Amino acid sequence: MAIYLDHAATTPLRSEVLEAMLPYLTEAYGNASSTHGFGRRARAALDEAHETIASRIGAEAREIVLTSGGTEALNLGLKGAAWAGKAHGHRIVISSVEHHAVGHTVRHLEKFGFEIVELPVDRYGRVDPDNVDAAITDKTVLVAIMLANNEVGTIQPIAEIANRVHAHRGVLLAVDAVQAAPHLEIDVTALGVDLLAMSAHKFEGPKGVGALYLRHGTHILAQQQGGSQERHRRGGTENVAGAVGMATAFGLAVAERAETARRMRRLRERLQKAVLAVDGTELTGHPKDRLPGHLSLIARDTDGTAVAVSLDLHGIAASVGSACTSGSTEVSHVLSAMGYPEEEARGALRLTLGRTTTEAEIDEAAGIIPSVIASMRIGAAAVAADPMGQGVPA
Ligand SMILES: Cc1ncc(COP(=O)(O)O)c(C=O)c1O
Repeated sequence: MAIYLDHAATTPLRSEVLEAMLPYLTEAYGNASSTHGFGRRARAALDEAHETIASRIGAEAREIVLTSGGTEALNLGLKGAAWAGKAHGHRIVISSVEHHAVGHTVRHLEKFGFEIVELPVDRYGRVDPDNVDAAITDKTVLVAIMLANNEVGTIQPIAEIANRVHAHRGVLLAVDAVQAAPHLEIDVTALGVDLLAMSAHKFEGPKGVGALYLRHGTHILAQQQGGSQERHRRGGTENVAGAVGMATAFGLAVAERAETARRMRRLRERLQKAVLAVDGTELTGHPKDRLPGHLSLIARDTDGTAVAVSLDLHGIAASVGSACTSGSTEVSHVLSAMGYPEEEARGALRLTLGRTTTEAEIDEAAGIIPSVIASMRIGAAAVAADPMGQGVPA
């Protein structure tokens, strides 16, 4: 059986979630906008999904906009808030380690006259709250900083950043919590965020469903016209089964989060110890303030993509970084921002555990991964064939 260590890319759909969704994919197929019984049943399920998701992050149901995933939630939140605030200013501040769903979205806004400021991060991928403060001018409308990074698992000091942001009147803080939501407690009031994005497929929910939290009173311009759904904030017939799936998955994840995180941290540390025993390896991201199941590293003198391919052949699913940049030849903008030179960043590898990862799987992976990495070091084959360096006969 293959060992799946790529839960930051996506997670399996949990059986209870599928069960909860099934009626809305079969007999309860009503359109939530219809006034007849079929419609009312769909509406009730949709309302309950908003309520469940909201209550698990300390929000109100009306503050949740359901979307087609994290990317859409971020597009809606960032573009919507930027356009709504354009009369007051055109400056947007982000970190240099944001997911492309944030980075590319604001770069798109640049074409329409917005000014984008990218904040540096330290060696661990952390933003300094003082830098956030210093970057905000009277023309700033929006600051977007992620709660936890998808490539290196580093957790940002969001509550502290929020304090700095809100010292400036009218500036909004948008937070990408797509990776954090499965693992970290989220209370929008304690964190002090105005907008926050989540995605169901990162916590054993269905793919193609996400949520944008919008603090009550925060004005955004809708990005989709043609329907008045989601309180006029996101037109389009609602994905009722998806909403039910997301709410069920999130409810379960939150209820079990503390226990799951403890177990995942222990297993990740075990794997980490085995993998980092290989010469030339180094943990990337913050050593402590990181997602519990997230192991990211650099193996010097290797090509991360080649290592991941070799691990796949050995029955282990891993990735080089974000699922979205895998397969491209570009090195990670996250590792570059953290100060890793290109040749080191090429040796990046990401192993991410999930709720369903077992001890037996980690024991097996801990036996395979170090030897695969060691064998993939550039020159390792030549060294093995010619240990004394005397030249190999032709
Ligand atoms: C940090 C982060 N933000 C946003 C996204 C995009 O979410 P989705 O896949 O739901 O569009 C991802 C997905 O990998 C992510 O890791």
